[in-house]
Amino acid sequence: MTEFSRRVEQVSISGIREVFEAASEDAINLGIGQPDFPTPAHARQGAIEAIEAGQTDAYTSNKGTQSLRDAISAKYDRDYDLAIDPEDVIATSGGSEALHIALEAHVDPGQEVIFPDPGFVAYDALTKIADGTPTPVPLREDLTLDPATVEEAITDETAAFIVNSPANPTGVVQSEVDMREFARIADEHDVLCISDEVYEHIVFEGEHRSPMAFAETDNVVVVSACSKTYSMTGWRLGWVTGSNRRIERMLRVHQYGQACASAPAQYAAEAALTGPQEPVEEMVEAFEERRDVVVDGLNDAGLEVPTPQGAFYVMPKVPEGWCDEVLDRDVVVVPGEAFGANGEGYARLSYATGMEELKEALEIIDDATRAVR
Ligand SMILES: Cc1ncc(COP(=O)(O)O)c(C=O)c1O
Repeated sequence: MTEFSRRVEQVSISGIREVFEAASEDAINLGIGQPDFPTPAHARQGAIEAIEAGQTDAYTSNKGTQSLRDAISAKYDRDYDLAIDPEDVIATSGGSEALHIALEAHVDPGQEVIFPDPGFVAYDALTKIADGTPTPVPLREDLTLDPATVEEAITDETAAFIVNSPANPTGVVQSEVDMREFARIADEHDVLCISDEVYEHIVFEGEHRSPMAFAETDNVVVVSACSKTYSMTGWRLGWVTGSNRRIERMLRVHQYGQACASAPAQYAAEAALTGPQEPVEEMVEAFEERRDVVVDGLNDAGLEVPTPQGAFYVMPKVPEGWCDEVLDRDVVVVPGEAFGANGEGYARLSYATGMEELKEALEIIDDATRAVR
């Protein structure tokens, strides 16, 4: 009898999905990991026009259309003054596939991958799928990742470390000083830094900086996507960029696993990236307003919470039994341990939900917090 691979048997379905399944239909959902805004009209239109012109019926080049890769390259120039050769970009099926091919191309069996704990659930699972050894590391008290913690965790067996800013599930933004340190660590230890920047444009305070801007070697690869910036999670369009030799290796995985990213999505992404950016600004403004309301509401309920500077999540410290009390009152929140062992004692709340619902949820949370205290 064919049994299942050891790799796949180590991975389970995300704890987030379990919470969703347990929730009632009219629950207020603060568990969602995607913006509650429509995809900008010009992005949709880009796909519609390409479909109608018959441009989306065939495979594109494995890396993605030239015009999309040009648009991605132009975006890095516009946003960060970073020169990215369009040849050094692979359009992927979301940031998820970009993370997958980065790990598959760089991790040998048993090699360690360092990532933040609590951190995005895919880091642990994709490391296992790549037959690597997950090496979660704790965060600072303010929920940022300390470069010193990463440096201490590096061994001869380390293949890569993952940095995620703005971060899921914490909403924190790493400082430029930290990003420079991550670049130095990647250079000095000759270890790959995978920088997951899918929330790069959802920043309220400070500035997003990529370790790629500071590295002197080619030891940084950057993963990003249209998913969060343009509210395009359903389109499945992301990318990875890195040096030519790294792209060439990642392309081998992408070519055989995916062939190319969906053509209509590539045209939508190109239109999103090259068209007006006001929809992004409006969305970020709305998220910032909600962030303030949520942080105030949680503080008023007596919960300790670092003020997130980006993404659309907040991660308060919560008393034991808190998540169950909140879930019992029909507000969906995700227990911190879904994001790693160090997430215990925290919960993740997403504010990708309308203001009225958020306010209602905060009243319920206040009530639930009293009940557990
Ligand atoms: C930190 C982080 N990286 C990557 C992804 C994957 O995004 P995509 O929908 O583009 O695959 C997510 C999605 O939630 C995320 O939170």
